[in-house]
Amino acid sequence: MQTKVKGVNKTDFIVCMTDGSKPIQASLAQTPEIVCSLLERGGIIYFPQTPFEISASDREFLLAQKQKEADYHKNIAYRPKEDIVTGFAAKTQVDAQRLHSIMADYHNQTTNFLRSFLAPYANAWEPDFATFRPIEEKGRKMSLRKRNDLIHVDSFATRPIYGDRILRTFTNINPTQNRVWKTSDTFEHLLETYKNVMAAPAPFKSKNDRQSILTRLYSMLGLKAVGTSPYDKYMLDFHNFLKENGFFQSNCRKDTWEFPPNSSWMVFTDMVSHSVLSGQYALEQTYIINQDDLVMPEKAPINLIKKAYNLK
Ligand SMILES: [Fe+2]
Repeated sequence: MQTKVKGVNKTDFIVCMTDGSKPIQASLAQTPEIVCSLLERGGIIYFPQTPFEISASDREFLLAQKQKEADYHKNIAYRPKEDIVTGFAAKTQVDAQRLHSIMADYHNQTTNFLRSFLAPYANAWEPDFATFRPIEEKGRKMSLRKRNDLIHVDSFATRPIYGDRILRTFTNINPTQNRVWKTSDTFEHLLETYKNVMAAPAPFKSKNDRQSILTRLYSMLGLKAVGTSPYDKYMLDFHNFLKENGFFQSNCRKDTWEFPPNSSWMVFTDMVSHSVLSGQYALEQTYIINQDDLVMPEKAPINLIKKAYNLK
């Protein structure tokens, strides 16, 4: 199945359902609660024309940029809390400042837009990194567990999120080339299929005591949190299991989505299993959504896992 969208207004968007059901056409008149529920069910909210303004000169500048060639810098990243850009091979200080300003602007625009578009999430969300992805995904050389072209659900490998959700907003700034994704079944469906071959997780901590004394101490000292949590470990194991499972990769149900130049899309990447087959030059902003603010908490991976293994 492929997205085919013509003659839509700037305020229109399509909800591409990844469970095999038909795409839904919608507009900004839709209530935020309905949009959130479609996202939480595994929909991809797709804007054929991006709601974000990126000037022609900023676009040109981004298309000329290079990323540091290193496996540990998967993308160029803007970290809003620290207000810095990492993973960037700057030719000059002026280039470094311009990239910083463009990335910070994308972060601000997406945050302002989603604050009303997805209002239920905005009170307690945590805006995470904005990234710029200048490398062609087709044929990209990465270690197996970091490959983007293998279908997976996202997890946070080193910064625990304890059951909160990973929402990502992408914009294709390539002037001519589509960004091509394949998706398969939702995490909800895959968990039912594979729960008996995965090791059951250790009991989850309640939200109030989810941070260990050590993590709290690190936080008080202004240092980064370390380690993981049973929830985060399970999601990382599931991510690795899918990527390492050749039978699943070859035989799972797949939909193909082509996101053309100047389009944007947003998706819970911990629910929608996905891979990137090709495409170069995309901007992305991640938000960690507080699990208490979900409109369909029963669809949250943490609650699906608790139900699947009879955990409290
Ligand atoms: Fe991913």
